[in-house]
Amino acid sequence: MTASIPRFVASAPRAHIVDGLHEHGAVIVEGVLNADVLARFNAEIDPLLARVSPKRTYLNPVIDYFYGDCVRQITGMAARSRIFAEEILCHPFYADLCDAILGPNCARYQLNVAQVMDRGPGADQQLLHRDEDVWVHLPRPHAEVQLASVIALVDFRAELGATVVVPGSHRWERERQPQPEELACAEMPAGSAVVYLGSTIHAGGRNATTDGWRRGMHMSFVVGWLRTEDNNYLSTPPQIARTLPRRSQELLGYVAHDAIAVGGGYLGAVDLLDPIELLAQGKI
Ligand SMILES: [Fe+2]
Repeated sequence: MTASIPRFVASAPRAHIVDGLHEHGAVIVEGVLNADVLARFNAEIDPLLARVSPKRTYLNPVIDYFYGDCVRQITGMAARSRIFAEEILCHPFYADLCDAILGPNCARYQLNVAQVMDRGPGADQQLLHRDEDVWVHLPRPHAEVQLASVIALVDFRAELGATVVVPGSHRWERERQPQPEELACAEMPAGSAVVYLGSTIHAGGRNATTDGWRRGMHMSFVVGWLRTEDNNYLSTPPQIARTLPRRSQELLGYVAHDAIAVGGGYLGAVDLLDPIELLAQGKI
């Protein structure tokens, strides 16, 4: 792994980070979560992870194989973690990047999925993949539909299974396979994020340690007119969503995607109204 990923600090001008994303398909940004948020979030999810077994089934055998049986995972984070729902989901760093990358291609963007992935000893490297391939029916080429990231909740080292990324692969022909020297390892201190486009090839790295867990959280956003990986309305149902900030509700998809001003229509209505208003009125 000899390729490299451009590296920034979270206070860097957003335009520089966005340019890096467009140019290389991936960037590492240090200090996205400050030490205080990181410590509180880790403390909040410790007991959740303690109740999760890495040996479980997923929705089909292909996904069973993809995740393997050495990884503890939590999704539906907005319902399970107040710190996630109020501070991480709504983090202005992500808002800035989503505004720049996804904003031109939708009336509003939404959370796709937030998924803690605690990769334990023996976890193999994932298959190299593009996250946007979950929307395989989308014709190509297409405008950017997804902004993805993996947030390091512990220090990401190569032997612990730091995310492997193929910089520049967002511009490749579909059939091109990466060579070993085209891979880069996203080593980074806890609180950093490797941010990448949906079209960038990457994989969770192999955990070669005997006792270390690579705790990270995939968090990705998608244009508001695509179906999300996590069913956010069911994972964070109305009785919980109504207790969250309006911005969180919006990012969970509780607001209509209204493209009428640009000549389109609306999506996600309830009783032909905007569900976020019905939620505020206690009607859902
Ligand atoms: Fe992925």
